[in-house]
Amino acid sequence: MRTQVAIIGAGPSGLLLGQLLTRQGIDNVILERKDPAYVRARIRAGVLEQGTVGMLEEAGVADRLHREGLVHDGFSLAFDGRNHRIDLRALTGGKTVTVYGQTEVTADLMDARAAAGAVSIYEAGDIELHDFGGDAPRVSYTKDGVRHELACDFIAGCDGYHGVARKSVPEASISLFERVYPFGWLGVLADVPPAAHELVYANHADGFALCSMRSPTRSRYYVQVPVEEKVEDWSDDRFFDELRRRLPQEVADGVTPGPSIEKSVAPLRSFVAEPMRFGRLFLAGDAAHIVPPTGAKGLNLAASDVRYLFDAFAEYYREHSSAGIDGYSARALRRIWKAERFSWWMTTMLHRFPADSTFAQRIQLAELDYVAGSVAASTAVAENYVGLPY
Ligand code: APR
Ligand code: PHB
Repeated sequence: MRTQVAIIGAGPSGLLLGQLLTRQGIDNVILERKDPAYVRARIRAGVLEQGTVGMLEEAGVADRLHREGLVHDGFSLAFDGRNHRIDLRALTGGKTVTVYGQTEVTADLMDARAAAGAVSIYEAGDIELHDFGGDAPRVSYTKDGVRHELACDFIAGCDGYHGVARKSVPEASISLFERVYPFGWLGVLADVPPAAHELVYANHADGFALCSMRSPTRSRYYVQVPVEEKVEDWSDDRFFDELRRRLPQEVADGVTPGPSIEKSVAPLRSFVAEPMRFGRLFLAGDAAHIVPPTGAKGLNLAASDVRYLFDAFAEYYREHSSAGIDGYSARALRRIWKAERFSWWMTTMLHRFPADSTFAQRIQLAELDYVAGSVAASTAVAENYVGLPY
C-alpha cells in the first residue's frame, strides 16, 4: 500500500491532521494500535481554546461542538477562603474558551473520517518506522497476524507519550526535557449539575482542587493526591467530602455529590522532546510534549502542532515548497515552551508540594493575591488561558 502521509495514532492529533489533509485532497492513512471502541471511550480534558475551535471548524467537525459546547467567559481562582474571577472576555478583548469533552472531539473526528471514506487501520500491532532519514520512508505493521508495509512521503508521529515514533529516533538526535511532580490528580466524573457556572481552580493547604464540567448535567472534579494513592481507597463520599473541604464555602455549597461514572488517578508531568522533525518523520501532540493538566493545554497544544504541520504539508503539495516543513519544529516549539511555562506556573502556584516550607505556601498566597489585585497579572493569566496566537 502507498499513501502521501502515514499517520501513527488515532488520538486527537492524528485524527485532526487526517481530517484536514483529507479535505485538502492529500491522501493519508491512520495506523492505530487500539480498537475504535477503546479510542472512543477514553476520558480526558475538556477546555478548548478559540484557536482549537477554529481548527475543528476548518476540519468540518464543529456542528455538535457549537450546539452542545459551553462557551465560558471566565474562570475562578480560589484561595484563602476567597473566590476570584478571571474575566477572560474582558481581559483579552473578547476571547473565550469552550467546554466540550475531548471524548466528544474524538468521536466527531472519527465519524467525519468514516464519512469521508479515509483509511484507518485499527489494531495495527508492532508498528515499525523505516528509512525516514531518506526520501522513501515506510511503516510496517501487523494486522490479523499478517505483516504489511505502507510506503509514504511523510510519517506523522501522533502516537502519544508512549508511542513508537519518538522512540524510533536515535538517542543522539533527540533532547528530552522533563519535570515530574510529586503528586497526582484523582478525578471523578458524575452526572450531577456542576458546582458553579464556570471552572474553579482552588489552592488549599491540604492540596489543589478543581471543579469542572462536561455539560449542565455532568460534572468533572479533581483533588490533588499522592501519586501512589489507590482509587479503591476513595469512596464517592470520601471524595466529595475532601473536595468540599478544599473549596471556599460558597463553592462547596454548590457541589452536588453523586455516584461516580469514572474515577482514576493521573500523574502530573512536564515533558518536551526537541526537535520535532527528523528527516521525513514529524512528531505532533503528546508524542512530543506533555503538560500537567492545570492550564488545560494538552489538547490545545496538540491542535496547534497540527495547525503548523498541516500548513507545512499543504504548502509542500500545493507549492512544492519545503519552507513550512523546514520551519515546523522551531515554530511549534516556540508556542509549546510558552504553554509549558504557563502549565508549570499554574501547577506551582496552586498545588501543595510535600517538601515545601510554610514560607513557600505564603509565597503562593501572595502570588494569588497579586494576580487577583493586578490587571496586568490577570491579563497575563487570561491571555495564556484562552491560548496564545498561532
Ligand atoms: N502504534 C500505533 N498507535 C499508537 C501506538 C503505536 N505504537 N502507541 C500509541 N498509539 C495511539 C494511542 O492508542 C492513541 O490512540 O496513539 C494515540 C495517541 O493519542 P493521544 O495519547 O490522545 O495523543 P494526541 O493525539 O497527541 O492527543 C493529545 O490527548 O492525552 C491527551 O492531554 C493530551 O489532550 C491531549 C491530547
Ligand atoms: C477537565 O474538565 O477535565 C479539566 C478542565 C480544566 C483543566 C483540566 C481538566 O485545567
